[in-house]
Amino acid sequence: MMKKIVVVGSSNTDLIIKVSEIPRPGETLLGGEFMTFPGGKGANQAVAAARAGGDVIFIASVGNDAYGEEAIKGYRLDNINTEDIKVCKGVPSGIAMITISAKGENAITVASGANAELRPADLEEAEEAFLEADYMLIQLETPLETVQKAVELCAEFNTLVILNPAPAADLSDEILKRVSILTPNETEAERLTGISVGDEPGAAAAADALHKRGIPTVIITMGAAGAWLSDRATGTRIMVPGFKVEVMDSTAAGDTFNGQLAVALSEGMKLEDAILTAHGAAALSVQKLGAQSSIPRREETNSFLKEKRK
Ligand code: RIB
Repeated sequence: MMKKIVVVGSSNTDLIIKVSEIPRPGETLLGGEFMTFPGGKGANQAVAAARAGGDVIFIASVGNDAYGEEAIKGYRLDNINTEDIKVCKGVPSGIAMITISAKGENAITVASGANAELRPADLEEAEEAFLEADYMLIQLETPLETVQKAVELCAEFNTLVILNPAPAADLSDEILKRVSILTPNETEAERLTGISVGDEPGAAAAADALHKRGIPTVIITMGAAGAWLSDRATGTRIMVPGFKVEVMDSTAAGDTFNGQLAVALSEGMKLEDAILTAHGAAALSVQKLGAQSSIPRREETNSFLKEKRK
C-alpha cells in the first residue's frame, strides 16, 4: 500500500521576470517577459511528492481570491488531498516576486498573506492527517508556532518529520529535537549552526553540530556538488554527488528534492538511494522555468537516472 505523506506549508503564486542579472539595490533593469506560475515551498513539495507517486495530504492556507482558487484547482489535478486547506476571508493569497538571472539564479521576495494565517488550531482540526501519515514534510514559510505544533502532533502519532528549514531561520531545540531528517542548504545550515558550509569539512562539522541538537539524520544540499549525508544511526558520513545539467531556473529545485526524497524514503529506499533519486528529480526541474511547472513525474526521473547509469 502507498504510504501517506502529509505536507504542511505555504501556497504562493509566483510572479516572475527573467533578467540578465539580479539587480543591485537602487538599480532598474529592463527584463524579459512577465510570467505567473504556481509556487510556494509547501505547495511545491506537495506537488513534487505527488508527482513522485506519493499519496499526499496538503495542509495550507490561501486567501478567498482567484490566486487561491487556481492554486487549489492545480493541487487537485495532481491528486493531492486538499480537504485541509483553509480559505481565509479578507486576506490575500501568498505572492512571491521572483527575479531570475540568465545563469538561472533567483532572488525571491514573499508577501506571506494567508500563509501567515495557518495557525496551530488549524493543525489540531486536521489531526487525522497526522495520524494517518507515515512522514510529514514541512518548511518555514508558515508561522513558527504552527511548525512547533506540527512537530508535536507528529511526536504524538509517531509520524516521522522531515524539516526543510527554508527560508533560513533560527530554530528552537523544542522544534529540532522532534525532527528525524533535516534538509538545509548551505546557508540554512550555517544559520542554524554558525559554521560556514562551503565544502565537505564544513558540512561535516555543521551536521555534527545539528546531531548534537538532537537530529538523527542531516542532509545538507550543496547545489550541483550534491548533498552531504550524515546519519547518526549507521555512522554514514558521505557526499552523495548530484548531476551536472544546464540550469535554466533553479526555483523549486530544493522543493523538488525534498518532495521526491520523502516519497523514496516512504517506499523504504536506503538514504543514499533516496538522495540520488531526489537529485535526479531536482536536476530535471532546473532545466525548466517556474516552480510547479518544472517538477517532474516519477517516470521522467526514473528515465533520467537510467540514462545517467549507462
Ligand atoms: O522554493 C521556491 C519557492 O519559494 C517559490 O515557488 C516561491 O513561492 C517561494 O515560496
